[in-house]
Amino acid sequence: MKDTDTPAYLSGFAGDHESEAVAGALPVGRNSPQRPAFGLYAEQLSGTAFTVARADNRRSWLYRMRPSAEHPPYRRYDGAAQFAAGAADGPIAPNRLRWDPVPLPDPPTDLIDGMVTMLTNREPATLEGVAVHVYAANRDMEARAFVDADGELLFIPQHGRLLLLTEMGRMLVAPGEVALVPRGVRFRALLPDGEARGYVAENHGAPFRLPELGPLGSNGLAAARDFLSPVAWFEDRDEPFELVQKYMGALWVTTLDHSPLDVVAWHGNLAPCKYDLARFNTMGTVSFDHPDPSIFTVLTSPSQTPGRANADFVIFPPRWMVAEDTFRPPWFHRNVMSEAMGLIHGAYDAKAGGFAPGALSLHNMMAGHGPDAASWKAASETTLAPHKIDGTMAFMVESCWPYRPTPHAMACPERQADYDAVWGGFPKARLR
Ligand SMILES: [Fe+2]
Repeated sequence: MKDTDTPAYLSGFAGDHESEAVAGALPVGRNSPQRPAFGLYAEQLSGTAFTVARADNRRSWLYRMRPSAEHPPYRRYDGAAQFAAGAADGPIAPNRLRWDPVPLPDPPTDLIDGMVTMLTNREPATLEGVAVHVYAANRDMEARAFVDADGELLFIPQHGRLLLLTEMGRMLVAPGEVALVPRGVRFRALLPDGEARGYVAENHGAPFRLPELGPLGSNGLAAARDFLSPVAWFEDRDEPFELVQKYMGALWVTTLDHSPLDVVAWHGNLAPCKYDLARFNTMGTVSFDHPDPSIFTVLTSPSQTPGRANADFVIFPPRWMVAEDTFRPPWFHRNVMSEAMGLIHGAYDAKAGGFAPGALSLHNMMAGHGPDAASWKAASETTLAPHKIDGTMAFMVESCWPYRPTPHAMACPERQADYDAVWGGFPKARLR
């Protein structure tokens, strides 16, 4: 099987799957037989504590050619200079921030060395918070794999596809789709289009899950069946293989004498998955006003406080706008939650310019924001009729923890020095 074959998938979110790349590799009726087939090694990978409630429990059993325990000591990794950076020191000014898209690299750069950490909000060891990275790459990860002990990785491609070769199988992920790689799952990334750019939300907290639907009922938003996990796949490569690990906010590397992507069969409900954002069943008003943007939540990571998300992944997809006597774009607002936002393609309806696909913005706790003056004027004066917002996909990674930009984010040339000017030029209300 070539790496570039179209992968096959299993349907369902956090479903209990089983898959074997070689017939007979998967034990029947037990997890850890005395002698697994073919001399494979059984290994449990737990994404949650053993003892969490059954509904929240995520774990899978992997049957692999060598135990993942077999590796030399890790040493510090000094590639990827802008990946895994901590927050800038000192107080964070309550300013709104925005960055232009990161340029594609000139020197050969793979996904890991092309990762740039922009925003963080908790130490990974607290098992809370989320970091936002951007990536720009032009080289395949060859004989090199990555594993994140600090959290699960939500890939949000903006330009160019990613072929993610994971321990549990392969996923081809195009812009407009997202991919979720659980904490601890090793993978490498190939770039079928030769280059790729996008965003990554690194969730240190409770694994992403589908949001509750409450009064919406039993359907709507993202459907579990549209999440696709890979079938078992492995590579049998006995050659030096770098394994880079992100652990406790720093990067480490060790060298194996084989590919770590040697899982021949697996079963369980902890697995990578991908999702096509076009499948999102978007809900909205059919009368007046529009709901809070939580109505657009694709995935949520709950915090310890009921109803308050550690991280919400929210999208702004194509949709009909039909509200009567309503200011239809996002209203002006200030919120205790903090919002990191990006754009995959098209234009976002609250900004007339300056927010290109690949750009990133930050509206932290209680920062006043909303439409810019041009968008406000247009939406205030337009004749309201049913209108479809089309050809666009923006997203937000919203967190209850205010984000702290990295030193690179504050100093890089992509940062827009004049972002506040977006909210200049509003006419004063006239009371008389
Ligand atoms: Fe907002």
